[in-house]
Amino acid sequence: MQFHERENMFSKRSIWDFKVNRITELLKQIENVGESIIDLTESNPTKVGLNYSCEKTLKPLYNIKNLEYSPDPKGLLDARESICKFYEKNGVFLEPENLLLTSGSSDAYNYIFRLITNPGDEILVSAPSYPLLSYLSQLNDINLKYYKLIYDGEWHIDFDSVKKSLSPRTKIFVCINPNNPTGSYIKRDEYEQISEIALQNNLVIISDEVFWDYNIISDMSSIISFSNCHDVPTFTLNGISKLLALPQMKLGWIVINGPASFRLSAMNRLELISDTFLNVNIPSQNALSKWFETMQNVFNELSERIRKNYDYLLNNINTNIPLQLFNVEGGWNAILRLPNIYKDEEWVEIFLKKSGVYVHPGYFYDFEYESCIVLSLIINPSKFQEGVNNLIDQVLVCSSK
Ligand SMILES: Cc1ncc(COP(=O)(O)O)c(C=O)c1O
Repeated sequence: MQFHERENMFSKRSIWDFKVNRITELLKQIENVGESIIDLTESNPTKVGLNYSCEKTLKPLYNIKNLEYSPDPKGLLDARESICKFYEKNGVFLEPENLLLTSGSSDAYNYIFRLITNPGDEILVSAPSYPLLSYLSQLNDINLKYYKLIYDGEWHIDFDSVKKSLSPRTKIFVCINPNNPTGSYIKRDEYEQISEIALQNNLVIISDEVFWDYNIISDMSSIISFSNCHDVPTFTLNGISKLLALPQMKLGWIVINGPASFRLSAMNRLELISDTFLNVNIPSQNALSKWFETMQNVFNELSERIRKNYDYLLNNINTNIPLQLFNVEGGWNAILRLPNIYKDEEWVEIFLKKSGVYVHPGYFYDFEYESCIVLSLIINPSKFQEGVNNLIDQVLVCSSK
């Protein structure tokens, strides 16, 4: 008998549009003719020429304990204790029993969605924000409802839009702190309003803090890490893919905060979810305490690079150029607003064809403002500067026509 694919063989949640977009098509054509481009979208730290030392990165993995497999669904105690020590240095006191290790933040979101939501439930997510959440929510049969971030020299949460998006099916308030790509942190007054809304509407909060330590604001006193807040049921996500620039080692964590009864029930259930998959590899868990020491130089190099690249934008985008640089407080990205003679996607095509530079269009991140592009700040500074100079030249040519 021959195989016949049934019309409904695949789940509805996997009916995606696999059509290649114009930008990806253009990139392929450029690649095929062997032309080089300056890629200002690169966000993979292992691909931007950082000074990783083989010894410092790989030696912690050479450990006899890695020959043994005795997993703990919460994650090995030694690894959880080393995370507590890391937070303690920053004045945040956590207990290892309130931590659960995951293979990364995507895994963490997935576990929390399994824990909190039923099919058809809704979660609140900011726009702009990074696109992964739309796939994660589809895979969990839940719906995203957006609240807006608005810009007036700084990014703020538009609480009217939060209220409009709330419904009896809302279960989670997601904060990305600092947000990708706007780089904006949650401020104390915003935290208070979010907590109030969460308590009134019986929501839990997820605060995704994978970029937390890459801050470039001088005054940290107004910003809030949810890992240090105890009144509302909250899951704070972080991991070494950004913090220690080790995405390949697949290790993240969830900090559970809130009233004791919530923490206990949430952890019991999360442990069972985690025990079903046991996704986190043992070697990374055994290496974590050492990596917190040995990877400090890569974190420092990356932080300096982000500051240097942002300073270059601050110094070179001035009132003589028809470009607006949005204020960055932290994270790995910067956003530029271009003259709206073209749409963001058209600008991206022009930069690819005429300037040999690749940037992301704002619509990838659900930008409301027209003609925004997103640049990665973790690029090697000389390459970054060359790319930005090419962009500025092109904008000047296009806007003088
Ligand atoms: C805000 C944010 N959270 C989480 C992730 C995914 O992180 P992980 O590698 O820990 O899954 C990304 C990826 O870029 C991100 O931008």
